[in-house]
Amino acid sequence: MKIQFSAAPTGDAVAVPVYSGKTLSAAAKRLDESTSGQINRAIQASRFTGAVGQTLEIVAPSNLETGRVVLFGLGDQAKVDATLIERCTAGVVKTLLESGVSLVSINIDSDEPACAARAGLGARLAAYRYDEFRTTLKDDKKPSLNSVQIITPKVGEAEAEWEAHWAAVADGVELARDLVMAPPNMLHPESYADSAKALEGEGLEVEILGEEEMLELGMGALLGVGQGSIRESQIVIMRWNGAEDKDAQPLAFVGKGVTFDTGGISLKPGDGMDEMKGDMGGSAAVVGLMRALAGRKAKVNAVGVIGLVENMPDGNAQRPGDIVTSMSGQTIEILNTDAEGRLVLADALWYTQDRFKPKFIIDLATLTGAILISLGQEHAGIFSNNDELAERLDKAGKASDETVWRMPLGEAYDRQIDSKIADMKNMGEGRLAGSIAAAQFLQRFVNKTPWVHIDIAGTGMNGKSKDPRQPVFGTGYGVRLLDRFVRDYYEN
Ligand code: BES
Ligand code: MN
Ligand code: ZN
Repeated sequence: MKIQFSAAPTGDAVAVPVYSGKTLSAAAKRLDESTSGQINRAIQASRFTGAVGQTLEIVAPSNLETGRVVLFGLGDQAKVDATLIERCTAGVVKTLLESGVSLVSINIDSDEPACAARAGLGARLAAYRYDEFRTTLKDDKKPSLNSVQIITPKVGEAEAEWEAHWAAVADGVELARDLVMAPPNMLHPESYADSAKALEGEGLEVEILGEEEMLELGMGALLGVGQGSIRESQIVIMRWNGAEDKDAQPLAFVGKGVTFDTGGISLKPGDGMDEMKGDMGGSAAVVGLMRALAGRKAKVNAVGVIGLVENMPDGNAQRPGDIVTSMSGQTIEILNTDAEGRLVLADALWYTQDRFKPKFIIDLATLTGAILISLGQEHAGIFSNNDELAERLDKAGKASDETVWRMPLGEAYDRQIDSKIADMKNMGEGRLAGSIAAAQFLQRFVNKTPWVHIDIAGTGMNGKSKDPRQPVFGTGYGVRLLDRFVRDYYEN
């Protein structure tokens, strides 16, 4: 999807906003005046009120150059901000994607270059499709829309903001979505590592550890998860050194990359198991973020570490009852082979703090079904040993519209994962506070490093979202959140 900025509309469709109570925006008023009241007439004849999410498509009155007019609701004018503009622009793009229109001009009724650029992001997010494996798609179901023109009086500034920042963020989100959408027979640890390696072309340094290297490092927790798979487990390390001081302590991002989670010997039920192809959503967010940082040449040093494994039942798979030794030296009794994400992260986290001595570590993981019970799909759950980091993430969540909700940690929860015969076990007591037990487990592997764990089991995959910025399934959650977090607090 091409994003352009222009002072005057030239699209074969023109979109103009309307506020609550059928109140015309300035652009809508101008259009109405130039068509002797046809716009208002169409609105009065319909149930369209200007509420957020509504659109009304009309044939353009005959004296206009354009073919169609799309009225879209922006709701209460006093509450309009960049996020709302992003969302409503996405709504227009979604409406027109397969409509036959190829270029739409969208008026956003704002002079702010930042708002125009966020409208561009909304357009890119809504235009995302995963059509790679559709060979029989009918012509009238293929996207017709290929360009979106955002109308702004400050064309140069909006373009600059778009190019310097948001285009790269959109690229990062699209990459993360592609990875989550990819089928698990095609995206497995080895092929995933290969595609991460290709990011060297974007300016990242990429290093891969195979099983031999991991064995040498003593990563018994991660390796145990992958031992039932015919695919070799991998760790991928991506580095972006954009800070003026190339030796400055890096920010570290760690992702769970279980390319398919059957549960292992503690096999999951069959219903919906296909969704476990998305159990690498945390790692996808890390890859997408690293790509965004490189794409916009962020002035920061960052390292992304992803643990890639496939959790399969097999004659060689790990068993409930096994005890493994992690890279940290701590031993873990495996009580449920389906609690595998924390085992992967245990070694990835320890390795990251040990090797890079980062300023902080943020990990992302589709870690627990329990976080869906707690927060649904509206917020990701965050767990932290550092109040400042947690507060900054909360603010970045609100600003990017990828919101988070902080959950507690504590000694009483930590005791839940004590084992009778090893240093710890890989699950808590029964079904209570499952997401917290998982976070407590991770905390035992970050040493004293300031750390946040983001459980994205609810937000990373979504088959039923009504948000026009989201496709079916792979949301790419985390890229916008962390890009914003880095931009607002860590770039010099
Ligand atoms: N990948 C799952 C968590 C998950 C569930 C993600 C639903 C997305 C949607 C994870 O590996 C898992 O199986 N967790 C178990 C842990 C339990 C065995 C302690 C869970 O949540 O049931
Ligand atoms: Mn599992
Ligand atoms: Zn899992």
